Formats: sequence, C-alpha cells, structure tokens
Amino acid sequence: MIEAARAKLNLALHVTGRRADGYHLLDSLVAFAAYGDELRLEPGPLSLRIEGPFAEGLAADPDNLCLRAARLVGGEAAITLTKNLPVASGIGGGSADAAAVLRGLERMGHSLPENPEKLGADVPVCLLSAPARMEGVGEIVTPLPPLPSLPLVLVNPGVAVSTPQIFAAMERRDNPVLPPIPRFDYLDALTGWLRLTRNDLEAPARAVCPAIDEVLAALGSTGAAFARMSGSGATCFGLYDSAGKAATAAKMLKQHGWWAVATELAQPPAAG
Ligand code: C5P
Repeated sequence: MIEAARAKLNLALHVTGRRADGYHLLDSLVAFAAYGDELRLEPGPLSLRIEGPFAEGLAADPDNLCLRAARLVGGEAAITLTKNLPVASGIGGGSADAAAVLRGLERMGHSLPENPEKLGADVPVCLLSAPARMEGVGEIVTPLPPLPSLPLVLVNPGVAVSTPQIFAAMERRDNPVLPPIPRFDYLDALTGWLRLTRNDLEAPARAVCPAIDEVLAALGSTGAAFARMSGSGATCFGLYDSAGKAATAAKMLKQHGWWAVATELAQPPAAG
C-alpha cells in the first residue's frame, strides 16, 4: 500500500513559552502541500529501503524515524521510502514519513501510538495531514476547515538547518499566541491574516543561514502574494494567485541552483 507523506508547512509559527524540559511551546497554523515523500508498505519483516532524489541524505539505520515509528507500534512491514523532500529542511520530512508509516500500519490493523509526539514534535499534526492549529510542543492538534487549493512554491537553498540550534538562538520565547483563526476561503483572506502573524524561528534561522534572506527576496521578486520560512528552515514557501505564476517562479528559482517545486495546498483525501 502507498501512503503520502506530504510536506508540512508552518504558515504561521509563534513561540509562546518554554517548558522546564527545554522544549518550546508553540502556536502554529499548519497546512500541507500536495507534494511530499511517498511510503510503500508491503507485508514482510520490518525493513527500510530509501530511494528518490534525496535518498543520499538519509541512512536506513535503526534510528530512522520510519523504523522507530514501526517499532513503537510493533509493526512489521517492508517499507520503501521515496525521499522527494530535502532532509532537515523545516517541512516535516522525517515526521511526515513517520506519520505515514503509522497510518499505513493502522490500515494493516495496528493501533496508533498514544504519544506520537515522542517520535517528533510534528508527528501528531502529520498524522492528520490536513490544516490544523498546533499547540503545546506539538501534541495538541486542532483540525481546521479545509483551505483553498492555492498555488504554492517550496524552495530550499540546499543548506541543512539544525532545529535545536535555531530554538537555542531565539531571543524571545514569550511571544503572543496567534490571532483568532477565521475560515479562509480566498488567497487574500489568508494572506491578510498571515500578515498579522510571524514565524518566530525565521530571525534566528536567517542569522545562521543567510541564504534564507536570498530565497525570501527571490520569492518576492517572482510575484508571490506571500512568502515565509517554514518550521526552523531553511525551506521557504510562496503563495501565488495562479498556478502559471507558481510554475514560472519555480523554474526561475531553480536557476539559482536551489531546490524548488511548484505545487498547491493539499486537499483532504476523498472519503473512503
Ligand atoms: O521533536 P523534534 O525532533 O522535531 O525536535 C527537534 C528539536 O527541536 C528538539 O530536540 C528541541 O531541541 C527542539 N524543539 C523545541 N520545541 C518544540 C519542538 C522541538 O525546542 N516544540
């Protein structure tokens, strides 16, 4: 069976506090791109094979999140991961892969784990793989109404960013929670709301990875209606008012030597 591991986008991400164990309290509007990794699960003893454009950045060792996810629920399957998303890039790759393995094993009769956030803070929201507000350290996920299927470009400058390093470099950890989240039926409604919000990890990420500045400036110059970094970076997203503009933008951004893909905000899977 095939499970999609869609790229996770923190459309907005406020860091609102810090727990005693060092983890940060977040308030994030999360959405998913139609583009992502792909997981194939076949009957057999637990194993992992990784292929695809970004396979080289990732070892199929026992620590791989796909295998940790399977072991957490006692699942057995021959797993093939097609790694289409850059590794350590703020779009949830590892968490999305782990969540897809858990969803696949659930379809094979296993229960979902009680604390999926133990695998990674983004695993609970990636299990839902649909628009949501994410709070706590990632374990509180509140589903939101669907978003319009807006054209979108993802772009990564090819620099792996360490999430703990970015959290550690933050100057303020007591930022306000998100403003009330309305239903977004149009691009303008979403971008208007996004302008009231931030990604609090963007400033520290830009400090350690100046290429993010270039990516955001380049997204602006391609006519993105809105551009921002996702997660702890370095992947940034641009929202566009037409699929044609997004496709042209991705082509231009690739000319910088960056990874760029034109896609759209994912729609919920059809029922059944
Ligand atoms: O859970 P995940 O593996 O994605 O987190 C990577 C690192 O990011 C954690 O070890 C922690 O340093 C930091 N983090 C955090 N607060 C969160 C999520 C992650 O400080 N809510």
